[in-house]
Amino acid sequence: MIYDLLVYNIGQLILPKYSPKPLKGQEMKVLQVMENAAFAVLDGKIAWYGTDKESKTMSAKHRMDGGHKVVSPGLVDPHTHLVFGGSREHELPMKQAGLSYLEILAKGGGILSTVEATKLATEDELVRKASFHLERMISYGVTTIEAKSGYGLERETELKQLRVIRRLQEKYPAEIVSTFLGPHAVPSCYKGKEDDFIDEMIGLLKEIKQEKLASFADIFCETGVFSLGQSRRYLQKASELGFGLKIHADEIDPLGGAELAVDLGAASADHLVAASDEGINRLSKSDTVAVLLPGTTFYLGKDHYAKARALIDRGAAVAIATDFNPGSCVTENLQMIMSLAALKLKMTAEEIWNAVTINAANAIGKGKEAGTLEIGQQADFVLWDVPNYRYIPYHFGVNHAEYVYIGGRKIWG
Ligand code: NIG
Ligand code: FE
Repeated sequence: MIYDLLVYNIGQLILPKYSPKPLKGQEMKVLQVMENAAFAVLDGKIAWYGTDKESKTMSAKHRMDGGHKVVSPGLVDPHTHLVFGGSREHELPMKQAGLSYLEILAKGGGILSTVEATKLATEDELVRKASFHLERMISYGVTTIEAKSGYGLERETELKQLRVIRRLQEKYPAEIVSTFLGPHAVPSCYKGKEDDFIDEMIGLLKEIKQEKLASFADIFCETGVFSLGQSRRYLQKASELGFGLKIHADEIDPLGGAELAVDLGAASADHLVAASDEGINRLSKSDTVAVLLPGTTFYLGKDHYAKARALIDRGAAVAIATDFNPGSCVTENLQMIMSLAALKLKMTAEEIWNAVTINAANAIGKGKEAGTLEIGQQADFVLWDVPNYRYIPYHFGVNHAEYVYIGGRKIWG
């Protein structure tokens, strides 16, 4: 057998457990790490892995020295707001003056200010801008990404954002999973008529399904945004139409979003900073992935982080994500989020790696395809310029990725 690529002399090969269901609780504490390893790629797929010694007798068209460093599956970022117009650095002084996220939103800033900028941008401009951010994510080792709409809040601009995501899917080898987040904020003309807005978004769901423009539906369930009842009605309809479900749940107030996510069998409940004890217990008994976003808590300047320890210790499946967006978490760097997971969520290195690979993949319905280096899977992997896998959460704020490969081809580094 002559392989296309053989990567040898790998100090540590990270092999999260292949699992089409998320790893829960104690399972997250286990991470298979093979020392002095090698692996081979054929036709863009993982064809073999084993010891470095075994690899010496193998033939391959290309051989790559792993430099005794670390190789992992490509990271998965399961929650991003990748496509938007403009930016919001002008709001930083308001934050510094003590205005909260919801107060800035209530003044017509925040999400609503990005909605204006996204409306004004052409589809081509949005593709260019999102490409810039996407390339940066890839450079940080991410090969599978979820991307949401949600900066249109009306038909034309929401569809424009989803078409941008489709163009990015065609343009890049990275896997991009598309989510419709029409109910992301209440447009000013619908204040007090939120139910009518939900009806309009439900109407749009049908069109999006027909055009196959998104796999998931999401909603911002929060005080001053959409109520639990409105969220239930919208998500139930989305489920009937065949969408996978996600929910921005219990970020600021404990409205019961976590419980709703479990009731409806959502793929994930995201944020959960204020999730109730009951919500945590319900998640722990379910396969709904708790997608935690510590970068957002950090960027909003809050002291209380999501209760990752309670979630994992009681048996829940946890993933982490950037929540990359122009307002509440302005970074493409998932490695930085791994550091925050260690420092603020008190997650172990093993839990963190499972949270950015196999569990993140399961949070976006890609548990069979991404997040592991199983034989037969697409060869998406990263060579990290670090001495061991614990080093990445430890040394924060910089890029440790040396090479990023998708389908066995180098796309960065
Ligand atoms: O996940 N919480 C709501 N939505 C985003 C923020 C979007 C924005 O501020 O532009 C979030 O944090
Ligand atoms: Fe978000």
